[in-house]
This record gives sequence, C-alpha cells and structure tokens, in this order.
Amino acid sequence: MYYPDEIIEEIRSKNDIADVIGNYVQLKKKGSNLFGLCPFHSEKSPSFSVAPTKQIFHCFGCGVSGNVITFLMKYENLSFQEAIQMLAERSGVKLPEAEYSEEAKRKKLERQRLFEIQKEAAAFYFRTLRSSEGEVGMRYFRERRLTKETMQSFGLGFSGKSGHVIAYLKSKGYTEKELMKSGLVNYDEKRGMYDKFWNRVMFPIMDVQNRVIAFGGRVMGDGKPKYLNSPETAIFEKSKNLYGLNVARRSRKGYMIACEGYMDVISLHQAGFTEAVASLGTAFTPEHARILKRYTDEVRLTYDSDEAGIKAALRAIPILKSAGISSRIIHMEPYKDPDEFIKNLGAEEFQKRIDKAENSFYFEISVKEKAYDLADPEGRTRFEESLAARLAEIEGELERDNYTDAMANKYMIKADALKRAVALALLNKPSASASENIRINRTLRSDERKEDGEVMAEKYILNFIAEEADVYKAVKDIVTVDDFSEGINRKTAELLFEQAESGNIMPAAIISRFDEAGEQTKVAEIFSTVIPESLSRQDKSRALTELVIRIKKASLKRIAANAENSVDRVIREKQAMEKLARIQIEI
Ligand code: UTP
Ligand code: MN
Repeated sequence: MYYPDEIIEEIRSKNDIADVIGNYVQLKKKGSNLFGLCPFHSEKSPSFSVAPTKQIFHCFGCGVSGNVITFLMKYENLSFQEAIQMLAERSGVKLPEAEYSEEAKRKKLERQRLFEIQKEAAAFYFRTLRSSEGEVGMRYFRERRLTKETMQSFGLGFSGKSGHVIAYLKSKGYTEKELMKSGLVNYDEKRGMYDKFWNRVMFPIMDVQNRVIAFGGRVMGDGKPKYLNSPETAIFEKSKNLYGLNVARRSRKGYMIACEGYMDVISLHQAGFTEAVASLGTAFTPEHARILKRYTDEVRLTYDSDEAGIKAALRAIPILKSAGISSRIIHMEPYKDPDEFIKNLGAEEFQKRIDKAENSFYFEISVKEKAYDLADPEGRTRFEESLAARLAEIEGELERDNYTDAMANKYMIKADALKRAVALALLNKPSASASENIRINRTLRSDERKEDGEVMAEKYILNFIAEEADVYKAVKDIVTVDDFSEGINRKTAELLFEQAESGNIMPAAIISRFDEAGEQTKVAEIFSTVIPESLSRQDKSRALTELVIRIKKASLKRIAANAENSVDRVIREKQAMEKLARIQIEI
C-alpha cells in the first residue's frame, strides 16, 4: 500500500515533532531548540536535539537525524507504511482504504477477532487472579517474589475453574467456531469444547505491538506438564515471537539477554534487566535471530546451566552468528537459571556476571574439550584436530589467526603446528565460490573419512602439485615417490613427478595410463579435489607443510614397521624427520 505524497506531507505536518518525540524522550528547552538524552545511543549528558522550527531532530553525539516519520521508524522499529499509519491515527487523518479481495477481507477480520479474543481472555484471567478465586495464584506469584508492579506490567493472570473462560467469551458474542480457532479451548467428542487452561497461573504472550497473541499457563506445583502453551494460531507463530521483546526492544543497552523461559524473563525484568527475552517452548530459530537483529548486534545467553541448557546455547550461537549477531555466555554457577541466581545473589551480582560473559567461541571450545582426555596423547590429538576444524570455520583470516594464537596459548599447542592443522582443515571446507565443486568435494570427503588421514593427505598433495607447478619445486627435495602408499597413489605420484620433471603437468594424461575403469575413476577423483580459492598464500603454504609432515610421518612408520629395513635406515629417516618438524614450505 503506497500513499500519495500529499497525504504523507499532510500527516507529517499535522504531527508536531516536539510533541511526538516528547512522548518518548524528556526534552528541555535550550535556546530555540529542545534537548534530551539520545534514545539511540547511551549517554549521560543530553546531545539529542529537536528543532521545532525545522521539524527535525539531530543527535550531536551519534549523528542520527531525521523527521517525525523517520524518528518513529527508528524508535518503534516500524516500516515507513506503519509509521504513516500510526501518525495518521494520532492526528485523525483518514488514510485511503486499501483495496482488499473478499478472501483477504475475511482473513483480516478473522485475525482482528482473534486479537480481540486474546485481549478479552487476558483481561478475564487478569481479573480472576485478583479475585477470591485467584487467591491461590496470587499466593504462588508472591512466593516466587513477584511484586504487584511486575504482575501488572506482565499482565499476569489466573485461569480458575474449567469452563469459565468459554462462558465469558461466549457472553461477549464470540462464536464456538471462533473460540476453536483461538487456541484457548480443547475439543473432544464426548465433552465437546472445554477450557485448555484451568487452575493455572497465566502468562499472556505479547507481540511487539503489545497485543496479546497467546498464553502460557503454569501449574502451581509439581504437576505435569509444567507449562501449557497456546498452540499456533492465525496470530501466533512460535518461531517468530520472543517473550518480553515488547519491552526489551526499548531497553537499548547495546545487547539483549536471551534466556529460556517465562519466569527467567520476568525476574530479570523485575531486577532491572529489561533487555531480557525468551524463545518460548521452542528452540531458538533463525527467525528469532533475524527479529533480534533489528534491535541489536549482540546477545548474551543465559540458558540453564544444565546439560540441556548448554546444548541449547551451543545450538543458538551459530544461528545468531549467521544473522550477524555475536553472542556471549553468562555463567550462573552455582545456580541453575537467572531467576534462582537473582533470588540468591541479587541484581548487582548478576550484572557482574553479564559484564563477565564469556566469548561464545571460548565457551564452545571449553565444552568441546570436556569430550576428550587431554592427558592421553591420542585424545589430545583428536581434540586438536577438532579444534583446528572449528577454527577453520571462522571466516575472516585475521580473526581466525587471532583465535588460533589464543587457543594455541590456552592449550599449550605450538602455534605453528595449530596453524598448519587449521590450514589443512580449511582445504576440507567447501568455499562459497566453488559451489559446484562442493558437491564433488563432499562425496569425495565422505569416502575419505573412511580412509585414513595419510591417504587423504597424499591425495591432497598430489592435487596440489597438479594445480600449481611451484608446489612440486617446493616439495621435491623432501617428498619422494616412495613416501606414497603402495597402489594407485604411489603410481599416480610416479607419473605426476615424471611430468613435473619434464615441466609439463597434465593430469588427464595420467588417468589414461591406468587400465581399469575403477582405477581411472579414483585417479580422476584425486585430481578433482578442489582447493578453495579463498585460501591465502600463507594458508596454502601452511597446509602444504602439514601435508608433507603427515606423509613423511606415515612413510617413516612404514619403514620402521618393515623388518627388511636396516636399523641404520630407520635412524637416518628419523633424523630427517626431526629436521622436518622445523621446515616451512613456501609457495
Ligand atoms: P523451565 O522448566 O526452565 O521453566 O522451562 P521456567 O521458565 O524456568 O519456569 P519455572 O521457574 O520452573 O517456573 C523453560 C521454558 O520452556 C517452556 C516454557 O516456555 C518455559 O518457560 N516449557 C517448559 C514448556 O513450554 N512446557 C513445559 O512443560 C516446560
Ligand atoms: Mn528455568
């Protein structure tokens, strides 16, 4: 729906900017302008100005500026259309009606009625809590140390005897069909319609426009299920709503706190942490992340400190990351959740935990670490490999290097060795640009996983040589044909080294030197491994060094295991190996 320019201008001119902004920001007159604390960045002295004559606002601190429409868009996170609608309503300007199809009209009306039903039900539960019927609920909330104001602002309520809400809503003129779609009632053949929620304390769920869209209801003891939630309806989609966001979106702390449940959000808000939200009864979704991204670039997770909570946090981190949100982990030990923590240690201590929130990468790795026995060399190697694989997932080269250094330091791994392992892991990572090749790489990789690491290293190095003539020059004095494992790999190496010596590398010619179709395919596969273009020169050199070391190590193992070889030979190879540990191959 687009509005004509004249109407937009009419609406803008009828909404005085000082009046509108005055509803959100406390403004004081200074000269011909008004000043207040900027709502878009945190500051202690006012640098946010409103100029009534020009009808614009500007912040000398952070530089935002605009008119009354853009202010609302920014502050309330509205689209242009929505801001216009809000201002039109405020100033009594009638907007041209949009043309809707019959079907669209019906749907719109249905949604409207659903919103009304939730609102009526919320008011009913709210009143019940404050009546004699709701005394048990009131006692429950008080025992959980909720203040009157908190109960008020979250619109908490109580669902009493079964049947009450249905009767009430019917008396308000809502039809059975409408009630069925509201999510507030259940139905079965024998009983017909009955209240979904009864004898539970009630938590209305609101959308960002403060409209009630659903409910959660908690038993007041240890009954099961602990919480009942409204099912999804035409106005309630679980994956798109966050509990508490209607308030949290205005907190502007620079980050938001994500927690697990209703009670966590409520006690956090009560303790002054109004930046807390929760994804309700579902795991954190990419949609939740996209919604949060409108308000913040950083989320601090305060999920339960049990295994389920840790798992949920580990799942949420990459989801947030791909929405462009960085995350940190708030540790609450020895307490289970923020509600319990605050009850025991108070808000000030919790703020300290917020400030000390752990970088999510460190958190991930410390969880990973627990799965391995670092005292055992085998376990240590596997941990380091898994660490390298995780480091390779970090997109930016600088960031990746920094984290690699930090991890090498923390776990006392030689930085060079870890860097090489990361470079090798990078080879395994599909690059976005080579999407077509990813598929090939993937199938290849899944086969390779079954093979051992050395064979994979051999394939990579063969392919490296096939792709870049310089690689052969860099490795030929170290790696020989005999270092490759017997069979296809060794024969391929032999042929490829021959070609390289003559200065004419041509993998296709090597393929046809094999007789069997099966062998030909395997050789072709070796040469179709893709080395990601995104890999820097330095990473390539590191990966190559790591590959050479692995191949030489495996080769030495074979020599040592072969009884025919003299002790002398083994010792010589071992000495060569020790030197090798210090090599740096540059291409
Ligand atoms: P919790 O069990 O941690 O609940 O579940 P809580 O919010 O901390 O509640 P209290 O403090 O025990 O009263 C976290 C969230 O998971 C959903 C609810 O949204 C809850 O807030 N949940 C939990 C359900 O939907 N159903 C359940 O049976 C349990
Ligand atoms: Mn909990």
